[in-house]
Amino acid sequence: MSQCVCPWWLGYFLATPLRRLYQDPRAILAPWVYEGMTVLEPGPGMGFFTLELARMVGQTGRVIAVDVQPRMLEALVRRAKRAGLEDRIETREPRGEALGVEDLAGKVDFVLAFAVVHELPNTKGFLAEAHGALKAGGRMLVAEPKHHVSEVAMAETAALAEQAGFAREETPTIRGSRSVLFSRRDSR
Ligand SMILES: C[S@@+](CC[C@H](N)C(=O)[O-])C[C@H]1O[C@@H](n2cnc3c(N)ncnc32)[C@H](O)[C@@H]1O
Repeated sequence: MSQCVCPWWLGYFLATPLRRLYQDPRAILAPWVYEGMTVLEPGPGMGFFTLELARMVGQTGRVIAVDVQPRMLEALVRRAKRAGLEDRIETREPRGEALGVEDLAGKVDFVLAFAVVHELPNTKGFLAEAHGALKAGGRMLVAEPKHHVSEVAMAETAALAEQAGFAREETPTIRGSRSVLFSRRDSR
């Protein structure tokens, strides 16, 4: 299910404030993200969601943003600094096919995978990592772009997530996206 990676320059378009008119990060995330949370965001690009996540988790929370393209992360850090949010955001590059988040095992409240799963080289591996990183009852929102990801492909991802130990909670309505909210099924 792995596809090609979105070119770095597209990051500027994805992070434009105009996108808010179509996909408002705060409105999308508000039901599940609260102050003090630890959030893992694979594939943040230049931080369209990351900055809002950092605002929402507040001074006591943090966001760990893992992107394979250093240029995306560099722009994300620049934007975070301009917004005074850099202390709440940690950026990382993945380790090979893995995100490399073993140190976060059981510490993450929320995983945001927005428009990224179809680009990952190993969906099963990602889901296992996300599951391992989440606290018991922690949640994960997977949102995939309708124009890239078919209903069938999304259903396959959801089935793999269930095999990895996630339960489907709901299918939120997000413009232009196929979206499923999952929760960690088992308890530690
Ligand atoms: C389509 S962009 C979405 C960016 C952002 N989530 C948004 O909605 O604006 C996909 C992002 O995933 C990143 N990506 C692709 N493969 C990745 C991998 N294996 N690990 C981490 N990030 C990856 C790309 O570099 C790109 O920044």
